[in-house]
Amino acid sequence: MADYNLAVIPGDGVGLEVIAEGRKALEAVASVTEGLSFQFTEFPWGSEYYRETGNLMPEDGIEILKGFDSILFGAVGDPNIPDHITLHGLLLPMRRGFDQGVCIRPAYLYPGVESPLAGKKAGDIDMVIFRENTEGEYAPVGGRLYAGTAHETVVQTNMFTRRGTERIIRAAFEYCVRRDKRKKVTSVTKSNAQSFGMVFWDEVFQEVSADYPQIETESLLVDRACMDLVRWPEDFDVMVASNLFADILSDIAAVVTGSMGLAPSANINPEKEYPSLFEPVHGAAFDIMGKGIANPLATVSAVAMMLDHLGEQEAAQKVDNAVARCLQERTVLTSDLGGAASTSEMGDEAARQIREG
Ligand code: NAI
Ligand code: MG
Repeated sequence: MADYNLAVIPGDGVGLEVIAEGRKALEAVASVTEGLSFQFTEFPWGSEYYRETGNLMPEDGIEILKGFDSILFGAVGDPNIPDHITLHGLLLPMRRGFDQGVCIRPAYLYPGVESPLAGKKAGDIDMVIFRENTEGEYAPVGGRLYAGTAHETVVQTNMFTRRGTERIIRAAFEYCVRRDKRKKVTSVTKSNAQSFGMVFWDEVFQEVSADYPQIETESLLVDRACMDLVRWPEDFDVMVASNLFADILSDIAAVVTGSMGLAPSANINPEKEYPSLFEPVHGAAFDIMGKGIANPLATVSAVAMMLDHLGEQEAAQKVDNAVARCLQERTVLTSDLGGAASTSEMGDEAARQIREG
């Protein structure tokens, strides 16, 4: 139990809408958990800030955030600013700056939620994706020469380090060891085509798996893994993949378990040297932003992951249970789940469920 100093960055688009509901969840859980409290410091960083200052966050932004216990983040992205500028201007610098190499993305088909896949029952789909989060295909390594000429040349380099690769793979195995129900780790690469980085990844996966003989292992090529996520999603337990592949896999996992609006994400600095960052998997959602209809439950679940990381397991459980009850009872639901509730009505319902336990 403690008083936590949280940095809150709503960002852009529906990020602004869902983060308000994440705060409600934190306030609700503090009100029913003795000794637990939060101090919020909100930062107006993102695309508006960029229009005003030319940067998505201040140059000393990482320095400013360093002292916080955790960061709650919404989304970044603007219809009128190129996506590579927004993402590389705000979110990726925090993931790298705080060495948040382990990204954890659970996907679970809750009771009360319908999968777009036929014949799936609650609990049939229950997986956790471990995404390498600081390097791989998202490393800003490359260049562009002779732009606009006939011999324009572009190089985009994937970067795999032993430290980063081993860290994410070991995190996936350790997660299994600490949870009885987790029995298998599936590693996803494309080592038939990418014969340096991905072959290296496969080797590290083999090496690390030798330390966990009790855990079943599997290696799949990414195209096959995408297919299996749609036809046999129940076969997946824990998955581990590079930055880009796990990004794509986690959108498929989110949608086969009912909605992008339910998928949370934890960006963890395993050494706890720096703050970790918690966010919904989804982005700014241009097609629904400003309408007040985004589902805030992904953010509420991200809040539960934050509490778990902070060592507040009892509080985390209260928040997780509240999300499950909202979905099972189906009295207040946003339109992605077949309801008509607004973002704030859904957030109020989650907060009520947290308070009434
Ligand atoms: P997106 O994740 O924003 O939206 C994908 C689809 O999911 C859309 O149909 C959207 O309406 C739906 N959706 C998203 N959040 C939802 C919610 N809470 N409730 C109900 N439905 C929801 O991905 P998209 O459209 O590719 O990207 C839009 C912008 O967001 C781009 O600028 C992109 O770069 C950025 N982005 C930012 C991310 C981040 O900040 N972590 C992650 C993904 C995209
Ligand atoms: Mg994504």
